[in-house]
Amino acid sequence: MSGFDPDWLALREPFDRAAREAAAQALDIPVFAARLRERRGPDAALQVLDLGCGTGANLRALAPQLGGAQRWRLVDHDPRLLAALPDVLRGWADAQGWRADGKAQAVRIEGPALSLDVAWQQADLAGDHDGLHLDGADLVTASALLDLVSADWLARWIARCRAAGVALYFALSVDDRLHWRPVDAADDEVQAAFRAHQRRDKGFGPALGGSAVHAALPTLARAGYRCTTSASDWHIDAAQGPVHRAMLAAMVDGIASAACEQEPTAASRVQAWRDRREALLAKPPGMGLVVGHTELLAWLD
Ligand SMILES: C[S@@+](CC[C@H](N)C(=O)[O-])C[C@H]1O[C@@H](n2cnc3c(N)ncnc32)[C@H](O)[C@@H]1O
Repeated sequence: MSGFDPDWLALREPFDRAAREAAAQALDIPVFAARLRERRGPDAALQVLDLGCGTGANLRALAPQLGGAQRWRLVDHDPRLLAALPDVLRGWADAQGWRADGKAQAVRIEGPALSLDVAWQQADLAGDHDGLHLDGADLVTASALLDLVSADWLARWIARCRAAGVALYFALSVDDRLHWRPVDAADDEVQAAFRAHQRRDKGFGPALGGSAVHAALPTLARAGYRCTTSASDWHIDAAQGPVHRAMLAAMVDGIASAACEQEPTAASRVQAWRDRREALLAKPPGMGLVVGHTELLAWLD
């Protein structure tokens, strides 16, 4: 869980996908897409800007729901993740039986119900992002990014999007809910330290962490956006097989490391918590974890 290496993004992707599928009905993305297309005109490609794209998981989850012609611009500051994009996107298209033509800086994907022009650029979103123009954009989206940013950063982006008349979709923001099965006497202490760690500066100023969606809603409302939210929780269960067990091991390790860094004086209790959780993981029936996330959709009438 430290940093955003491609292996971590690949490990979380199926949990993200299942979580977003569970939220899909409440969000009704096809209706949202139809609303965007009405504004743009039926034949024009929807223009989507994906902030903190990683290896493109947000596009893979969202583009099939939007359907039709789309032009995506993906932005991240990490060149390793951007370098992986052409292969990951072509592999995804191949697995769906779709055609993909790609160069180093752009990929075109054609399926029966969608056509995607995808380009990407390296940019530090924490810095001066005036160079990232919004002209012509219909939708600014980000997955698993909102909890990293600060309230000031978010207010600036919402103001920019409002001025450009652009809709927003923030997927998979953590919301402080963590439920273990079975419970452990030290869960609350470890999780309090973990949540505090999530609010440390991640380059954008003090991070919103688990309060991100809660903080975004009034700012969006004041800017004139209509909003809808839906839970998109990860359900991780050791009994479901090795991918779930690998995810649980990563969560235990990531939460314990962050908690120790945040509260060094609690290190021995956190280590004991980690040992008990790892022991549970090693034998049936194992354990389970629900990690609360929230989807946030915002649009202008
Ligand atoms: C949790 S990952 C999510 C990646 C992807 N959206 C997904 O859902 O798999 C957060 C992403 O934000 C990117 N990021 C973090 N800080 C950034 C910054 N200052 N500028 C641009 N991208 C940044 C990371 O490189 C990483 O790809």
